[in-house]
Amino acid sequence: MSGRTFLAANWKMHLYPGEAEMLLQQLRLLEAEKGAWPFPVVVCPAHVYLSLAVERLSGTSLQVGAQNGYPGEFGAYTGEVSMAQLRAVGCTHVIVGHSERRQYFGEKGGLLQKKVQDAQARSLKVIYCIGETRAEREAGETFAILEGQLREALSRVDVAWDKLIIAYEPVWAIGTGLNATPQQAQEAHGFIREWLRKAGAPAEAVPILYGGSVKPANAEELFAQPDVDGGLVGGASLIAADFWAIAAALQKAKGALT
Ligand code: PGA
Repeated sequence: MSGRTFLAANWKMHLYPGEAEMLLQQLRLLEAEKGAWPFPVVVCPAHVYLSLAVERLSGTSLQVGAQNGYPGEFGAYTGEVSMAQLRAVGCTHVIVGHSERRQYFGEKGGLLQKKVQDAQARSLKVIYCIGETRAEREAGETFAILEGQLREALSRVDVAWDKLIIAYEPVWAIGTGLNATPQQAQEAHGFIREWLRKAGAPAEAVPILYGGSVKPANAEELFAQPDVDGGLVGGASLIAADFWAIAAALQKAKGALT
């Protein structure tokens, strides 16, 4: 298995406290029963459950990440949570640039660049998300969009490549049940790795995850692609057994490749 193999759960704005508690408990039990997860696995709940997740997952191999964070330590930014605060409560990772943040909250460019830089400076690893919409794909603009999204946050700054994970998430595949084909995913991932190479990154060491309707039934064929190093899983990560099945598919796909 390559050192790039990686899996993340994006719980989004889901679950009441009792449900979050139960899902964390199920993830713990799965590990107790079947053994440690064989590669880094990060659970990203809503902010209100971060401390709970850190506490409940302590002593397991699972790590906790946030779905968003704001650059800086403290400040008059009502409603925001800083990267420094995320680190202080025990997060190891933070998602930056998810398409829902871009689409609904207008995040782009300089802000994303600051988020990446500040998170890394505070020892958080960044899961940086990029992806094209259906209209962009149909217009043949996929690579140009990916290139622009990579450039806007990762150029002109000192990126700590060892604290970076890229997630390719085609917007048309997120939450739609319509995943990219393994070929479409590989094509995009290959393009991203080549961009990283040209940017001077140790491209062979940076995990590139696929996200967008990953489920137990399609995980293995997606993960079998050489440049698909793992997944960022939304809906299916809310069901412990499905998330475990996706992890097992990842292990199988990568175990078979090496
Ligand atoms: P999905 O979400 O698995 O529910 O499609 C993925 C994501 O947005 O990270």
